[in-house]
Amino acid sequence: MKVNKAIFPVAGLGTRFLPATKAQPKEMLPVVDKPLIQYAVEEAYAAGIREMIFVTGRHKRPIEDHFDMTFELEVALEQAGKHDLLDVVRSVKPADMECIYVRQSQALGLGHAVLCGQRLVGNEPFAVLLADDLMVGEPPVLKQMVDRFAEWRASIVAVQEVPPEHTRRYGIVAGAPVDDRLLDVQRIVEKPAPEAAPSRLGVAGRYILTPGVFHEIENQPRGVGGEIQLTDGIAGLLRREKVFAYRYLGRRYDCGSKEGFLEANVELALAHPEIGPGFREFLRGLEL
Ligand code: G1P
Repeated sequence: MKVNKAIFPVAGLGTRFLPATKAQPKEMLPVVDKPLIQYAVEEAYAAGIREMIFVTGRHKRPIEDHFDMTFELEVALEQAGKHDLLDVVRSVKPADMECIYVRQSQALGLGHAVLCGQRLVGNEPFAVLLADDLMVGEPPVLKQMVDRFAEWRASIVAVQEVPPEHTRRYGIVAGAPVDDRLLDVQRIVEKPAPEAAPSRLGVAGRYILTPGVFHEIENQPRGVGGEIQLTDGIAGLLRREKVFAYRYLGRRYDCGSKEGFLEANVELALAHPEIGPGFREFLRGLEL
């Protein structure tokens, strides 16, 4: 019951970042010096996952190119003796990591995107990572979840407390505490109004799911926004299997919003070994 595979739904249009995302996938927007998608892939790798399944769409070629070999660049860096940069370029796709691409030809929702990975996942537990949610944690958040999965062998969704006025942005879970971080989920609802929300625990974009969820997604009607929702698939799974919610240790940046994206850039720049100290000085000098 090891988690070997991860699905990255990356077919979304990224309209909130127009015009930056007019001809470029939102997952390729950089936070300091790395595209968003690379943070998510590195987190999966750190959790022991080696098979990365990208559910892509039109205009997403740059993601495939990013995780491919860049022959001309590598030769140029080698000839110039820039070995540090060569290591940076080569480390994007470690030799033991496999990248597989499948197309979601219609944008029918997150549940539908996950379903597009069904044949590649097969009958195994798998992770889902939403690159919009940049997670910083030590150990990395998905690794924390994989460790819990090894113990409980049941689906786990990452959660955090959200302000009541933000329940409409999240899947919201309610359940019975198992320990200080884990809840036995009894309900999960996609984007409820504050008055209908069963709690204030919102789902962050990290999931470990058992393959039974595919069957649930397939057999559910369209949900919020007319989309096939992953949350509704998990609600179906709940009727047959245990599902846990895990309050992760760490910080989430909602890089699907401009504010969250800028916060991630500022905080990760401050923590960056090379540019951090100078950037701190720059911020101090700003007259705010
Ligand atoms: C998706 C999920 C939602 C989850 C959120 C986390 O929503 O549908 O349940 O809480 O990701 O970021 P989206 O942000 O794609 O609208």
